[in-house]
Amino acid sequence: MKSKIAIMGAMAEEIEPLLEKVENIKKNRYAKNIYYEATYRGKDIVIAYSKIGKVFASLTATILIEKFGCDKLLFSGVAGAINPELKIGDLIIASHLCQHDLDITAFGHPLGYVPEGEVCIPTDRRLREIAKEIAERRGVELREGIIATGDQFISNRDRKAFISSTFNADALEMEGGSVAVICDALEVPFFILRAISDSADGSADIDFDKFLESSAKISADFILDMVENIE
Ligand code: ADE
Repeated sequence: MKSKIAIMGAMAEEIEPLLEKVENIKKNRYAKNIYYEATYRGKDIVIAYSKIGKVFASLTATILIEKFGCDKLLFSGVAGAINPELKIGDLIIASHLCQHDLDITAFGHPLGYVPEGEVCIPTDRRLREIAKEIAERRGVELREGIIATGDQFISNRDRKAFISSTFNADALEMEGGSVAVICDALEVPFFILRAISDSADGSADIDFDKFLESSAKISADFILDMVENIE
């Protein structure tokens, strides 16, 4: 069966560069949001931005899969860097995702863990391989690492250091970990790509505003190459 690929962002800026390049757009209003059915180089896709945070991201991922019938999900957007080798505009793909703000440690559980869940959820291996092949062909650097998710914009060195040491994460953002839970539960292969917009430090808010658009575009352009290369 022909696949239908969901492409999600969190913010309008993260999907606008996609909407400029896709064809045959049909706008669907649902659950106080807009879902754009479209085609790109012959592939059927559905694009939406969720709004910021884990709850909205979970809702949107679920709708893309359950209502629109998407059988693969790609996330495109920006992230704060933890790994000092990651600079503004650099691309990172998640090997795994975790939730840094999920905390029932009072009951003796590790941070990020709830019973019957997992601290780290892996992304789809084949989609990661496709991304690495594209990066090699394009001659762009693509880091692979753990991405930590939470309902917090991190602009604080101490919190960043804590997330780094607790989860061994390379980057952080506010949606990927929840998309991972949904796709894992619904058995839909998924892939999370982020371009760095800031370093999650004291100037993160200023850098985020400055680099959101340019970094979101870098990520979106790469995601469209992914769409073309998915069987
Ligand atoms: N997304 C991009 N930068 C971020 C930050 N510093 N904290 C959380 N999410 C982000």
